Amino acid sequence: MKPLIIALALVLAAPLPASAHPRPPRDLRQLAEQTGVKIGSAVDIAALRAESDYRRVLNRQFNHVTAENAMKWESVEPQRGVFTWDDADTLVENARRNRQQVRGHTLVWHNQLPAWLTAGVEDGSIGATELRQILRDHITTQVRRYKGKIRAWDVVNEVVEEDGTMRQSIWLKHLGPGYIADAFRWAHRADPRAKLFINDYNLEWNAPKIETTLSLVKELQAQGVPIHGIGFQGHLGIQYDYPGDWANVMRRFADLGLEVAITELDVRMELPVTPEKLATQATYYSRAMTDCLSVRACRELTVWGFTDRHSWVPGWFDGEGAACLLDENLAPKPAYQALLTVKNPR
Ligand code: XIL
Repeated sequence: MKPLIIALALVLAAPLPASAHPRPPRDLRQLAEQTGVKIGSAVDIAALRAESDYRRVLNRQFNHVTAENAMKWESVEPQRGVFTWDDADTLVENARRNRQQVRGHTLVWHNQLPAWLTAGVEDGSIGATELRQILRDHITTQVRRYKGKIRAWDVVNEVVEEDGTMRQSIWLKHLGPGYIADAFRWAHRADPRAKLFINDYNLEWNAPKIETTLSLVKELQAQGVPIHGIGFQGHLGIQYDYPGDWANVMRRFADLGLEVAITELDVRMELPVTPEKLATQATYYSRAMTDCLSVRACRELTVWGFTDRHSWVPGWFDGEGAACLLDENLAPKPAYQALLTVKNPR
């Protein structure tokens, strides 16, 4: 009798097995809580205003948000000196009310610039000195407006080309390579607590882009530039192999002391949708989460829209679509379930 009692006592006293979370998370917010990876989505502000079901799902599921377009230069200053903050303000206010942190997107980019700016540079009426002043004012004004309300800023977006050369944007052409360090310094001055990121696509796998971006980060760090994070956009498609080395790439940036974020994840497919394609898509989403979880420095996974009802994919990739976690009716797809059942090593 005695040994049995001892054995029983030992079993009862033993610590819980490693799977300390016996049940899978019930939704994405709970997944975020259990893993410590913030789960975000890009937000379409028109949909946020007009569609109560869209709003409900966004606010229930996500604890991080990024404006899909509302904080881009053409949105906030369509005419010189005329600022239109309504949409960006709406996002930030909705986030506050729903306890969501915000990624600011984006301060310096070569796309979605206002016409007054690109035309002025083109016809020479805006010279280099003035352009630098304009960029500085833009960054200072926007970052200051949301000071304390933006967790992380995509300070520069897509500054490296596929072949590993620096992108010949108006910024590089007219201001020289120092514009990147300047942008980070100006942003830091305007909100010293915001985490400042460099963000890019195809950085999950493209070797020349990866090497150049790593060198760039090291150079900036050597100059004492305030850079805190690397953003992997993560625009994937199931017709391409999953970027199998992604976790290692993340680790190389983490080793430089950077925070890692997946900032724009979506997984498109050639239409029509089939159950097989949805199953493959689910594995891409769960592998992205698994990769993030395997790197301590990875603290955010943001999807570029959460519903196929509002996704940039059909408009940008001919014949492709269905890239999001939920379908047009906001019904969860296999990818959504797959995210909730990813094994949590943390
Ligand atoms: C896209 C938006 O989703 C579209 O609505 C818009 O028309 C074009 O830009 N990389 C980025 C994002 O950094 O800002 C882009 O967003 C998608 C690619």
